[in-house]
Amino acid sequence: MPRSPLIARTLPALRRALEGLRARKATVALVPTMGALHDGHIALVRLAKRRASRVVVSIFVNPAQFAPNEDFGAYPRTWKADLAKLAAEGVDLVWNPDVKTMYPEGFATKILTEGPATTGLEDRFRPHFFGGVTTVVGKLFTQTRPDMAFFGEKDFQQLKVVTRIARDLDLGVKVTGAPTVRERDGLAMSSRNVYLSAEQRAAAPVLYRSLKDAARRLKAGDDIKATMKAAADAITEGGFALDYVEARHAESLAPVASLKDGPLRLLVAAKIGNTRLIDNVGV
Ligand code: PAJ
Repeated sequence: MPRSPLIARTLPALRRALEGLRARKATVALVPTMGALHDGHIALVRLAKRRASRVVVSIFVNPAQFAPNEDFGAYPRTWKADLAKLAAEGVDLVWNPDVKTMYPEGFATKILTEGPATTGLEDRFRPHFFGGVTTVVGKLFTQTRPDMAFFGEKDFQQLKVVTRIARDLDLGVKVTGAPTVRERDGLAMSSRNVYLSAEQRAAAPVLYRSLKDAARRLKAGDDIKATMKAAADAITEGGFALDYVEARHAESLAPVASLKDGPLRLLVAAKIGNTRLIDNVGV
């Protein structure tokens, strides 16, 4: 039987648990999540285990990053299964605050990030989103003071944004990105995939397929505009309502006119029924 991780739900409990973990000069890694854990999350945990002597996973469905019309209430919550997975991975501590602990009465401070957070991708379609992510990730970093933190490339813009916060606020935490874990047919794993009907699930791999096709064409020297138009058409024909599919600079996320402006990253967000999915690939 794997040993169950310590569980902290209050700040004093978190502080005590961290003091215990830090004894004997341990290095501490943080893996922030909203739970509903799948193999993408577990890959981050395994990478953290390899790099640090202690691993803390936070599970907090953060209301601040959902707009009122989004799926905060419906977001999958699978605490028991999550804990069993984290126990099997040998995670040391699970930080699972409630909303009142994270945002007590009178909470009035927001972390506002520009640069990668204002490049016209997710921020254009979910204007509230990064304000919520940056504030909660900033708090998770200051609450746990990890030496390192792990985020998925699946949420590529988010990865760039949290890297910025760690640097800009001198938090001394090294942010590392990990490759996207996919289903066998290419669909990026996501806690939101459970929303898909069988028919939508069968259609969903068009996102990754279109991005890979576009990356192949761009590498072969095809024009960016024409290539991204073809990707957009394929995704729309596949049954999605497109928010964006764009070629951007892989570091700054700035728009690019040609392959020479690279390295490039291709990023997509699109809705099928009520479910909004995102994905991205390198070129
Ligand atoms: P969540 O969607 O639970 O994702 C937690 C972490 O897992 C993020 O770093 C995300 O990029 C990574 N992840 C998700 N799917 C992945 C996949 N298929 N392959 C690899 N990594 C994957 O992202 C959030 O939560 C929140 O915004 C959070 C950062 C916790 C702040 O609330």
